Amino acid sequence: MSPDALLDRAREAAAHAYAPYSTFPVGCALLLQDGSVVTGCNVENASYGLSMCAERGAISRMIIETGANRPPSDDSAPPRPKIVLAAIAGLKAAPCYPCGACRQVLHEFDCGAIVVEDNETKGPVVIDFADLLPHAFGPADL
Ligand code: THU
Repeated sequence: MSPDALLDRAREAAAHAYAPYSTFPVGCALLLQDGSVVTGCNVENASYGLSMCAERGAISRMIIETGANRPPSDDSAPPRPKIVLAAIAGLKAAPCYPCGACRQVLHEFDCGAIVVEDNETKGPVVIDFADLLPHAFGPADL
């Protein structure tokens, strides 16, 4: 799937956001190594700090859909899913970059790059993940 098409999936997901407090809907679409796509949207809460970002919502769904939730001691566990490309779209802001917490969580699943919208053209801007979170700490560092 092209970065542009993935960005469209993120925009569609943003339309499902529950964001009554910020009124800032965000959608995320993750392209996985097997070619599948999983999406998520932000879900806010009256206790503001409990609000969940679109990226982490999508990652939760990725874990369910890939069956990667078994403990590492289980030999039959499938490999940790890998994110080839993560698209993020905010309906009120372009580009909408992932927050710091979401960058760290995307790194856990080897995110290779992100795609966000260009401010003027709304076209895709692909950014290498190493430029987004340099010197990152991850599973390989334990
Ligand atoms: N938000 C995301 O969903 N992803 C990000 O990476 C940045 C922020 C959401 C959280 C909150 O619901 C709203 O955007 C305003 O911060």
